[in-house]
Amino acid sequence: NNKITIAIDGFSSTGKSTVAKQLAKHLGYVYVDTGAMYRAVAYYAMSHGFIDENGFDKVSLIEHLENVNISFKFNDALGFAEVYLNGVNVEKKIRTLEVSKFVSTVAAVSEVRHKLVEQQQQMGKDKGVVMDGRDIGTVVFPDAELKLFMTASAETRAQRRYKELVVRGDEVVYNEVLKNVQERDYIDTHREDSPLVKADDAIEVDNSNLTLEEQFSVILELVNKTL
Ligand code: C5P
Repeated sequence: NNKITIAIDGFSSTGKSTVAKQLAKHLGYVYVDTGAMYRAVAYYAMSHGFIDENGFDKVSLIEHLENVNISFKFNDALGFAEVYLNGVNVEKKIRTLEVSKFVSTVAAVSEVRHKLVEQQQQMGKDKGVVMDGRDIGTVVFPDAELKLFMTASAETRAQRRYKELVVRGDEVVYNEVLKNVQERDYIDTHREDSPLVKADDAIEVDNSNLTLEEQFSVILELVNKTL
């Protein structure tokens, strides 16, 4: 078994999931979108009235965490795994700007992180995994053979995110998307538990001026050097 673990971290909307999916497909590896797991917990908290614009009932969320069961099921038509919350497919529901507004607050809770990190380590224990998130190379798999840290300018990222939401049919305003990307990055880098930071041994890839094809070939070269 010469399979490796590939950890991809970085700020919001830096194209982590796009390249992670491409790599997983190319290598025949499993792709795990850890952001989807935090989004599913945020969605759970929102649906139970534990978080809204008026506040966050962190204690209640923590009390209910044992009832939160997150799983993935591969969708052949889509070519990647979709996320399920207590057996219900929530893939579409977790991608809204609404969920994006609360997810970083929920993801800063240590009990939430502890639960999800444990599950992520379990999912990647046999290697052959491409995992993307904010703390994969630093906390989840500090021994990953290849660590990438993706970056791009905030405007480039907001533009991409905005296009994605518009294509989905969401009515969003560009400035609100930009503000959300900046706010999440702030919370993610300033939280006490596992803040977003580049691991010392991670390779930084700035894709502001790379096409998807260029980015893939740059990263594939790094993978092939590691294999
Ligand atoms: O990757 P995505 O943008 O969907 O992640 C949503 C949010 O989930 C991030 O802004 C961050 O607050 C949180 N997250 C995290 N740790 C991870 C993955 C995501 O805290 N490993």
